[in-house]
Amino acid sequence: MDILNFLGRLHPLVVHLPIGFLLIAFLLEWFKREKETKARSITIIFILFCGALSAIGVALFGWLLANDGGFDEDILFWHRWLGIGTAILATIAWWAKIKTQLKVYKYVLWGMVFLLLATGHFGGSLTHGSDYLLKPLLGNKDEITMKLPSQPDSIKVYKHLIQPILEQKCYGCHNAEKKKGGLDLTSWEGITLGGESGNTIEDGIWTNEMFKRVTLSQNSKKFMPPKGNPLKYSEITLLKWWIENGSDPDFSVIQHKISEETQNILMREYQIDSSPKSFVERTQVPPLREAQFSRLLAQGWKVQTLGETNYLLEVTSIRSDSMPKTNMDNLLAVKGHITWLNLRKTEITGKDLATISQPITFAITKQWCYR
Ligand code: HEC
Repeated sequence: MDILNFLGRLHPLVVHLPIGFLLIAFLLEWFKREKETKARSITIIFILFCGALSAIGVALFGWLLANDGGFDEDILFWHRWLGIGTAILATIAWWAKIKTQLKVYKYVLWGMVFLLLATGHFGGSLTHGSDYLLKPLLGNKDEITMKLPSQPDSIKVYKHLIQPILEQKCYGCHNAEKKKGGLDLTSWEGITLGGESGNTIEDGIWTNEMFKRVTLSQNSKKFMPPKGNPLKYSEITLLKWWIENGSDPDFSVIQHKISEETQNILMREYQIDSSPKSFVERTQVPPLREAQFSRLLAQGWKVQTLGETNYLLEVTSIRSDSMPKTNMDNLLAVKGHITWLNLRKTEITGKDLATISQPITFAITKQWCYR
């Protein structure tokens, strides 16, 4: 019935009333300097009355809300019964205060506050996840902290990108012990086995149950995850990318066909540069030794590195006569560094050409011009 559903949803709204009333009653009782006056006693009784009444109401609303389903059952169990316990103790405290049953009153009041705090804690865990309270202290798990390999060809899409998402948002309810819907997402076997309604991984993206669940309307009962943060747009895009490429457990980032959008997400969220690299960007060589450098300069070569941290070389001859053979041989000694050779001004002999045309390990461009 809709009205019951509505009342249930009042629970999070009014839940703070009994917390306020009961804590104030407890504090007034605790911080008492002089002897109890009549007026003060009546005030506390009145506050306890409001606290007990609202606690009973909130417990009822909570019971109705629990019918909505989708809560973690273990946490719900403790939240439900501790909450009911709080309402009962608040009522007893109110009664004991009226009847001046001081001994009972004292114990019950302490018990009530303890249950109140415990209920609140489990309530927070229900809606925010059980690690909500300590998360800021233990580090923000929402950020993916796993260290990624530095080369895109060693970054596995499933292991390094998809699994951490599932770990954060799904493992809580889909693990080996707690298989909600019969589904264990913590292992590759579990994923391929699927859940009660069959395979999680299927060829076409629109038949993939997992993808369907995370992209449903959030109001749908089947939306995943039913509690906690939904998947971010970037996470959904990565999941889709992985599924479209065949949901392979071993493929690396560069083995997947990639769209510009996915490329941008990898760059922005993970600092993975998956765009194809030119030879010069991919090649790492150590800097030339100082002695080699100065020898080349002395022999009529102008030598420049390609960048501040890129030690590949551009070499230009500044001699206008022919190059002595030893100068040419010196060049050979650093051939692994040379990407660009300019001999425009220099007289080139057939012997020089024989030297130059030796295979150069890293060369991408060799250019020389005859006069
Ligand atoms: C708070 C607990 C919870 C979390 C977190 C959660 N699920 Fe579920 N999931 C369930 C429950 C309960 C069911 C069974 C009821 C149903 O089918 O809706 C289920 C069912 C499923 C099913 C259907 C299984 C089948 O074969 O019937 C899939 C697929 C699924 N979840 C995927 C996910 C994914 C992906 C995530 C993470 C983004 C996730 N779930 C997070 C509780 C959860």
